[in-house]
Amino acid sequence: MPQLRIDNQTVHAAQGSTVLEAATSAGIEIPTLCHFQGMPHYTSCMLCVVRETGSGHFLPACSAIVSEGMLIETNSEPVRDARRAALELLLSDHTGDCEGPCQRACPANIDIPRLIRRIQLGDQEGDPAVIACRQCRENSNPPPCERACRRAQHDEAVAIARLLQYAESNLQQSGTHAHAHLPAFNSAMGRIQDAEWPVLMENVNNAPRTKPAAGSETGFTREEAQNEATRCMHCDCRKPASCKLRLYAEEYGAKRARFRTSSRRPFEHDLSHNEIVFEQGKCIACGICTRITERDGNTPGLCLSGRGMETRIGAPLNKSIAKGLADTDSAAACVEACPTGALAWRAKEDTA
Ligand code: FES
Repeated sequence: MPQLRIDNQTVHAAQGSTVLEAATSAGIEIPTLCHFQGMPHYTSCMLCVVRETGSGHFLPACSAIVSEGMLIETNSEPVRDARRAALELLLSDHTGDCEGPCQRACPANIDIPRLIRRIQLGDQEGDPAVIACRQCRENSNPPPCERACRRAQHDEAVAIARLLQYAESNLQQSGTHAHAHLPAFNSAMGRIQDAEWPVLMENVNNAPRTKPAAGSETGFTREEAQNEATRCMHCDCRKPASCKLRLYAEEYGAKRARFRTSSRRPFEHDLSHNEIVFEQGKCIACGICTRITERDGNTPGLCLSGRGMETRIGAPLNKSIAKGLADTDSAAACVEACPTGALAWRAKEDTA
């Protein structure tokens, strides 16, 4: 049983175990993105890098095998610098908004696309977050969220203020008067550029803007609200709270611009699956979903194609993502395991 030191702590590791396993057994946390418990290592993200101080070498903890006398540091300045660089490389071609433009424009940073999805699904409870919207709604016309709405470049902006007014009236009726909940983040790591976002139009339905009912001063009826909510293009990320790339980028202070490339991943919004949205632009090619579909014996399942920066996830023979994720249990496991918002539920809330 090899004995090594990790962060000045003596650790007895099982023969053949990895540095990651040894550290975890000693209660030392090492960040990972492409590692998936119980599956062979893939070693693509390099976020798990640690430093062996005896040799001065940096090692990927998820695949480096322990040996007698190793001296490992997991959180020194050089290690953190290396992790920051790994994250910045992943962010360099990352495409897709962490937050929709409406949320970024909102002075209270309300997660507007999430609220609109709830309205679209017939949610009648309202959400305390909308209370923060009232002042803006009463003092500016149109409010900043509607001025930023991308739908306006197709026909008219979604009537966000009235939808949030509808949500607030539901809140009052349900008697909930909690304080506004503001999301913890305000970054937009892979913000879609002007030249990229029109692809969202492929998913735009042509529903006309919902007009107020005659004589209505109180806002939308439930049916009107649902109709108007269907006009939202959902250009946000469905995993704003649980995306590990975003969380680690915040933690390590990673900047997307450091390794800016001339070509980013294509911005694609694959809605071929009824319940899942796939965004190639947010994929970091960690291979977790392909390993899950392989583990589960799915046919065709998902696979990786291309090389280097051109590596892409998809179903074999150019079949759709829906075909690759035809097995319900496997599809659910892929969505839950995806470390970014590349694979996400179309309607379920992100409960990180
Ligand atoms: S977790 Fe080790 S390289 Fe990705």
